[in-house]
Amino acid sequence: MKFLIHTYGCQMNVRDSEAVEALLIEAGHEKAASEKEAELVIVNSCTVRQKAEEKAIGKAGNLIADGKITGMMGCAVKRLGPELFKKLPRLAFAVAPGELLKIPYIKGGDPLSAHAGTAFQAFVTVMTGCDNCCSYCIVPTVRGHEYSRPADDIVREVECLAERGVKEVTLLGQSVLRYRGFPQLLRRIQEIDGIERIRFTSAHPGGCTDELVAVYRDCPKVCRHLHLPVQSGSDRVLKEMGRRYTRAEYLAAVAKLHAFDPEFSVTTDVIVGYPGETEEDFEQTRMLMDEAGFDNAFIFKYSPRPGTRSAALPDDVTKAEKERRDQVLLADQERRGQARNDRLVGTVREVMVEGPSKRNKARWSGRDGGNRIVVWDCNGSGKDSASPLCPGGLVQVRITEAHPQILIGELI
Ligand code: 5AD
Ligand code: SF4
Repeated sequence: MKFLIHTYGCQMNVRDSEAVEALLIEAGHEKAASEKEAELVIVNSCTVRQKAEEKAIGKAGNLIADGKITGMMGCAVKRLGPELFKKLPRLAFAVAPGELLKIPYIKGGDPLSAHAGTAFQAFVTVMTGCDNCCSYCIVPTVRGHEYSRPADDIVREVECLAERGVKEVTLLGQSVLRYRGFPQLLRRIQEIDGIERIRFTSAHPGGCTDELVAVYRDCPKVCRHLHLPVQSGSDRVLKEMGRRYTRAEYLAAVAKLHAFDPEFSVTTDVIVGYPGETEEDFEQTRMLMDEAGFDNAFIFKYSPRPGTRSAALPDDVTKAEKERRDQVLLADQERRGQARNDRLVGTVREVMVEGPSKRNKARWSGRDGGNRIVVWDCNGSGKDSASPLCPGGLVQVRITEAHPQILIGELI
């Protein structure tokens, strides 16, 4: 059967889709080149915000209306349970995260270590589930308790990936820095031949220890980028959210990374309009973002999720006010991103090649260690697969022009 998977949500979901793809291929099915060609479409859903959930369900509904055999997987399946079939009576199947092996006709195999394709980048699950209890977050409900895979399994998996040509691994977990012995795990992966870059996400500031900084110093493959969701800059709101750090502790973690390397890239997530968020709380968030000097920030408008602690609180910041706060932070980040990137003009970045730039095919694009997008004129690059100028290769690019979210340069 020819199948296709549509993925919404975070990297965990991307990873799960990869695993299901591998398991389906192993079971004799074939990946379709397009939705039109697919006989079965699986929608991998997210439920972190209501909008995200609606999008996935809407997509599945459209597919069903078009007469496609459609299944669903992912976090919205877990949250909705049998209710999902009330919304989509003609859904072929629904599988929650952690039950991937139930995808029809699949037997055997380990979804935590199944891989398909020949990409040079791969996700590797180190932890599943989450035992934090942030008031607004539905993830613990849908992804279950925290579980850490044995380090030997993870190392073996990365070795296999390296043998298959993978150059960059991203270690995944809701809170990877809670993995016991995480610095040692990074040191072991650093030793694996063929792997050029090691990334990991997502992180909690509590894990930004001196031991971690020592890993950054000793292990050149470990990228100097950390996605460190802050959520709010107000101590009062942070406490209500159950984040277990103060703004001062958060800022100290970022300062530690920047003291080690001023170019260290720190990115974040922020929620605006949390119940009871005052103008003053919001100003605290704005100031924190400036002080932290984020390279990039994802801003989310608060949305109450059923069954979470904050869902019991009145969602009292108006939609218009959430929108305004969102726009203010986005505009701030635009300026900040420009200023951060301006400092990189004239520097030489080591870039892992990804392929032709989406916007301008005459240019190629890749990412530096800080996960910054770098583009350059290709001059015919990429035609010779033996040259470093093919996806997964490492090149040196001198930056000539900076934009808030992109660096432009010339190949050296
Ligand atoms: N409302 C808005 N944003 C949320 N996030 C998580 N839960 C909610 C919610 N209920 C955001 C957080 C998290 C990101 C993945 O989504 O910022 O880091
Ligand atoms: Fe990822 Fe959370 Fe969305 Fe699930 S609900 S896909 S864990 S962001």
